[in-house]
Amino acid sequence: MVSISEIRNSITNLGPNLVGVFVGGTSGIGEATAREFVRHAQAPRVYLIGRSREQADRLITEFKTLNEEAQTHFIQSDVSLLRNVDEACKEISAKEEKVNLLVLSAGVLTMKGRDETPEGLDKKLSLHYYSRMRFTTKLLPLLRTTSTSQPPLARIISVLGAGHEGALDVSDLSLRNPGSYSLSTAANHAISMTSLTFQHLAADPANKNIGFVHSDPGGVDTNIVRNLGGVMQKVLAVAGKLILKPTGLVVDAKESGERHVWTGTDERFGSGLHRVGPKGEKAGEKVFGQLREKGDEERVWGHLEEVFGKVGGGGKFEG
Ligand SMILES: NC(=O)c1ccc[n+]([C@@H]2O[C@H](COP(=O)([O-])OP(=O)(O)OC[C@H]3O[C@@H](n4cnc5c(N)ncnc54)[C@H](OP(=O)(O)O)[C@@H]3O)[C@@H](O)[C@H]2O)c1
Repeated sequence: MVSISEIRNSITNLGPNLVGVFVGGTSGIGEATAREFVRHAQAPRVYLIGRSREQADRLITEFKTLNEEAQTHFIQSDVSLLRNVDEACKEISAKEEKVNLLVLSAGVLTMKGRDETPEGLDKKLSLHYYSRMRFTTKLLPLLRTTSTSQPPLARIISVLGAGHEGALDVSDLSLRNPGSYSLSTAANHAISMTSLTFQHLAADPANKNIGFVHSDPGGVDTNIVRNLGGVMQKVLAVAGKLILKPTGLVVDAKESGERHVWTGTDERFGSGLHRVGPKGEKAGEKVFGQLREKGDEERVWGHLEEVFGKVGGGGKFEG
């Protein structure tokens, strides 16, 4: 465990001219991480990616007051579609020669069943896994450039659920078949495939100076329950106020933002795969180890290449 006071002391000077891309930076953990990055970096350039222009405008104004040398740009995009991810990455690549920090936290909390996008992927699975891996692979060239520049910082963080990996249905990784999709299989697949894909990318010698972080943020006080609606949303809001926050089971977004800036910049996460728990600890290895022993890393990578091959060409993934 790493205490928040230790983290606060260590992130006070992140260095000059860093470029940070925050996919899901218009709210919650992504917003809080972008804010702490802006607060502690010198003349950073920041890209917030999300759908809400109103939220982004508010943050652009606020960030200027936190750090007048910071430049914050907004890319409005529904990133559940991989073709939109490609457009966003094109826009960033046209403006920047390097990216230092890529924080991936776009996501939703819904009880909905499979909800297929025009690209043939489930929307939630896309937001939590496919879209994030598309950002990763498309921006890797700019992160590789960074790892040899000053300061030599190149880091990718996916904020999801390290340590909560579960068994994969390897015959149906995108959970298309009737009966395959449930809240728990969708969570297992997104979490396990993230760890396995990051492991695969981290092992590539071309990425040897890039840190791949899969984080479990634990309970964080954000507005993620807004899509639940109905009784569930109300119950969680009351439980949050009366139980989860007072007992410390949920931390405020600022602390989570500070913790993610720390994993995004501390040299101990500088290369390889890091699966990090809510308090900066190493996430449990057991299930992840079992998945690797079964050869699921190669299976998942093959599947991702197949999906990118079909969807990347403007097509639809049909299993
Ligand atoms: N909060 C927690 O306690 C907790 C715990 C464990 C794991 N997590 C995971 O952490 C991640 C972030 O959670 P959070 O609490 O920060 O959630 P949040 O406050 O709801 O923020 C989610 C972000 O995702 C963006 N987003 C959602 N759908 C999008 C779409 N189709 N296209 C583009 N952007 C989209 C939202 O931006 P727009 O609204 O502007 O589109 C927003 O910036 C999620 O994956 C969640 O599962 C959270």
